[in-house]
Amino acid sequence: MDMIIKNGTVVTASDMFKADIGIENGKIVEISGKIDESLAKHVVDAEGKLILPGAIDAHTHLAMPFGGTISSDDYYAGTRAAACGGTTTVFDFVLQDFGETMVDAVKRRDKLCAGAAAVDYSYHVAVKDVSGELLDSIEDCVKFGVPSFKVFMVYDFGVTDGVFYKVLKKAKECGALIGVHAENNEIINTLTSEFLAEGKTSAWYHYMSRPEFVEAEADTRAIQWAKAVGTKLYIVHLANKDGLAAVTKAKDEGYEIYAETCPQYLEFTCDVYKREDGRNFVCSPPMKGEESRQALWEGIKRGDIDTIATDHCPFQSYEKDWGKDDFTKIPNGCAGIENMYPYMLSAANEGKLPFTKVVEICSTNPAKIFGCKEKGSLAIGKDADIVIYDKNIDFTITNDKMHSDCDHTIWEGIKLKGYPVQTYSRGRLVYDNGKFVGEKGWGSFVKCKID
Ligand code: URP
Ligand code: ZN
Ligand code: ZN
Repeated sequence: MDMIIKNGTVVTASDMFKADIGIENGKIVEISGKIDESLAKHVVDAEGKLILPGAIDAHTHLAMPFGGTISSDDYYAGTRAAACGGTTTVFDFVLQDFGETMVDAVKRRDKLCAGAAAVDYSYHVAVKDVSGELLDSIEDCVKFGVPSFKVFMVYDFGVTDGVFYKVLKKAKECGALIGVHAENNEIINTLTSEFLAEGKTSAWYHYMSRPEFVEAEADTRAIQWAKAVGTKLYIVHLANKDGLAAVTKAKDEGYEIYAETCPQYLEFTCDVYKREDGRNFVCSPPMKGEESRQALWEGIKRGDIDTIATDHCPFQSYEKDWGKDDFTKIPNGCAGIENMYPYMLSAANEGKLPFTKVVEICSTNPAKIFGCKEKGSLAIGKDADIVIYDKNIDFTITNDKMHSDCDHTIWEGIKLKGYPVQTYSRGRLVYDNGKFVGEKGWGSFVKCKID
């Protein structure tokens, strides 16, 4: 055996128990009460610590051309930060170009990612063009190992209702999963024009132009279409309570509707947009009111929110400053890739939810939903993507302790109870007590197949 992690408490989505874990060739080969130390080349003593599966961040935008610039973490910086926050797999969004097949879009982005990523990675394709044979290229992409796609109902590259409908129908035929960024574009544009005309240009009006109902209406409409077509749907970055109620209703009716939310919607409310640095929090959908924030926590506890992901899409301060006097010029997105697992685990450590629930929504569920069979759990045969977590560390987030290339973080000053001390990616140590110890290019492509 290459390594034994001994004396820790293993956490799965359903259970917590004391056990040793044996690792060979990057895989978990044994989990039992006691493994003979003499069998291993290397022994890690995890007495008093939790042993968790690495998190899977199913929503990142690395080096993404967006908002008149490119998000400031490339595939190396973003995945380096991921490793240091206990995330061992990321799903990045590939924006299809007009006229490009889905597989070509993936291959184009993979040239940037392969050789750069420090942890394992896969993709979702954000669909723009399904004209001619491009619609059928969804099926080729499923066969290629990228079976998940996203449609944006907003932004200048958002799709029409007709394209969304076609994509849902194609997904049903070929076993793909469609994710959706749901907000009502027309209402956003109307409200935005009104505010600008009235000289209301601060970051607060980013929220005011995309309030609760703008997202809830689009969530409800997207769910309605998925029901009508008879296919499943994954709502990304859900941030409002009425949209969540629509998800709950659809699930109760027996529909396969999945919902993802992000730590920023669980921690912050729209009040952040009144702050001096409000523009740094500008992302879409924006943080909502306190009722929505509370509803999201309740949705997690009830099981109506299936996954947590980050929507990591950082921009440097000077880029955020473009919108100092006009909120429409602020590139949308925030950093979070290093904060997701520590934040959710800290919530568990404070008794807000069980550690098993955090493993379920940050690792096991995304692996199941997106079909990465080797990931998402501590079990024999799975990849040895492992986090050792110390419940007794008091950690205050500051940007200088983060490993992203971004020069600020919306998480500055947030206090956490407990923190990861080590992260292993397929058995290789990539993060050790505050330091990145992995390597550029270590990460490999994870081929996915959705059941
Ligand atoms: O503001 C955000 N969320 N930026 C990234 C793109 C998206 O909408 O997911
Ligand atoms: Zn989005
Ligand atoms: Zn996103």
